[in-house]
Amino acid sequence: MIDNNGGMASVAISSYDISSANTELARRAGYVDAQWALPAINAVELRRLQRRSNLHATLSTSLWLGLTVIAGFAVVATAWSWWSIPSVAVYAALYGGASDSRWHEMGHGTAFRSRRANDVIYYLACFMLLRGPTIWRWSHYRHHTDTIIKGHDAEIAFQRPPSIARTLWRFTHLQGGSELLLRLVRHAGGRLDDEAKELVPAHERRRVVLESRIMIGVLLIAVIATVVLRSAIPVVLIGGSTFLGGWLVVFFGITQHAGLQENVFDHRLNTRTVMMNPVFRFLYLNMNFHVEHHMFPSVPYYSLPSLHGEISSQLAPALPSTWAAYRQIIGAFRRQQVDPNYEIPLELPKIEGDARPVEIGAESWMRGPSGEVIVGLETSFGLGELRKVDIGRHSVVVGRTESGSLFACEGWCTHAKVHLGEGAVIGEEIECPKHNARFDCRTGEATRKPAKDGLTTYPVTVSKGRVSVHLVGIDSVGS
Ligand code: FES
Repeated sequence: MIDNNGGMASVAISSYDISSANTELARRAGYVDAQWALPAINAVELRRLQRRSNLHATLSTSLWLGLTVIAGFAVVATAWSWWSIPSVAVYAALYGGASDSRWHEMGHGTAFRSRRANDVIYYLACFMLLRGPTIWRWSHYRHHTDTIIKGHDAEIAFQRPPSIARTLWRFTHLQGGSELLLRLVRHAGGRLDDEAKELVPAHERRRVVLESRIMIGVLLIAVIATVVLRSAIPVVLIGGSTFLGGWLVVFFGITQHAGLQENVFDHRLNTRTVMMNPVFRFLYLNMNFHVEHHMFPSVPYYSLPSLHGEISSQLAPALPSTWAAYRQIIGAFRRQQVDPNYEIPLELPKIEGDARPVEIGAESWMRGPSGEVIVGLETSFGLGELRKVDIGRHSVVVGRTESGSLFACEGWCTHAKVHLGEGAVIGEEIECPKHNARFDCRTGEATRKPAKDGLTTYPVTVSKGRVSVHLVGIDSVGS
């Protein structure tokens, strides 16, 4: 169990740089792949919240893309009258600002049921933000594994000691956008920076180069069009609006973690949930429920308000408005300018660090006459249900796909030590609750990153209404 401070003895990692040296320091300090506090939640309710809806994601994505296209036409139609100022402002906010939350949700693969639909919008949003798709996937995996661990999490956007002037400057996105562009150019030239080498596994690095070349190629076409047409419109519409709309990324992004605690293992201490109005929530895709998202990344954005309702009594009180969040952040920044170790104090309700939403365990199985493991009545397995079943030293997950097939596979994700019994069934696949890797329930094949290796699967039979798992290849399961 982890106490509510969730931290360990402080270890000096002096910089925020992502390097192998800092990774080693963080690892030795026990900051890497730690067990994080989780609130209790009813397993049936969690399954309901994990459900994916192509309809919801299609409507929301169509609205965002539709508004972006309309605003783009307005930019062309009004160029360059006074009306072009609001046209460009709206287009840029949608293109270079609201794309951030789409990048995020599609990167998790949770918005659409369709993996391909998530990927298509993910690549589009990456281009709009000038983010290399593969690097940022790996960066975000780590952000979720080791959130706000100094020198290890590559997405600590507001670092200490903070500077009000530097923070205001960031809203222009001139520096941030330029750095992203230069990074793409460098990677397109085949030279990966140290952070990319640290984050991206060797077998994916060529992909980083290829993606960068494609993105730079499209940007160059926009530049050539601008020169040929003698009009700034192509570069404003493609690429330029990443800079012009980047302020919105900062506007929402600062509310996520700024001013909160570092090197702790409790998202309630390093992450903020802020109540926002419907327009902000559309632009930001409900990421204002950020604590909830970090605790349960398998819950899609449209179910985060309901998840908040389920677990809010176990969290710190949500900030009542965006303004309240900014007041808290500015106050923390002022204190941290004087004392960089200052952290916003929070009173938290006690929760069990190893609380898990799904727990069946060793008591819930019986040995059958032929050595099979009987795990329950067939009628007790609902569609999309998963059960963690511990059998001696082994832990398996038994479940039913959405089409009704029963399956059993090894319980632990092959990417890291996370149990799949807490994950979600999406169609015929099982999704890891931590970084949303997916596996084919029938074959165990890894079908979505970051998992590379597949799972061992076990035959399942039904006899006299009872579900049995045959642990082939496991000589002694103990009991
Ligand atoms: S632990 Fe990372 S995808 Fe499963």
